[in-house]
Amino acid sequence: MQWSDDYNVGCPGIDAQHKELVEKVNELERLLESGEADDESFSDAILFVVEYARTHFRDEEELMQKMQYPEFAAHRKLHDQMVNHLACFLKDMQSGNGGTFSELVSYLYVWIQAHVLVEDRKFGDFYLLSANAGT
Ligand SMILES: [Fe+2]
Ligand SMILES: [Fe+2]
Repeated sequence: MQWSDDYNVGCPGIDAQHKELVEKVNELERLLESGEADDESFSDAILFVVEYARTHFRDEEELMQKMQYPEFAAHRKLHDQMVNHLACFLKDMQSGNGGTFSELVSYLYVWIQAHVLVEDRKFGDFYLLSANAGT
């Protein structure tokens, strides 16, 4: 997935983290395609990306709360669902109940793209409105 400025939502800190997140998933994809990683090191690499995503979610939620974003609770729920989905996926995969690394990488791309373009953008619009109202 190529980062494009179209993914910017207008809040610089959040945009920088989104870009970083996409880069980390790209690295994951490269690692997968290189065929150099065994299952264990790939699992470790995934956990690293998941950890980064969680940090980003926390920062984003903190900003939303600080700015009294009206859709904060619903937005946080979407983050929680994603983290839970990933945890289940990893668990199933590790216990041999299906799912592949490449499916997981695809899921990350699809989720990030849809979430940033729709949900985070909604917050970006709110953020810009609030910032302008304050000047
Ligand atoms: Fe985000
Ligand atoms: Fe978000």
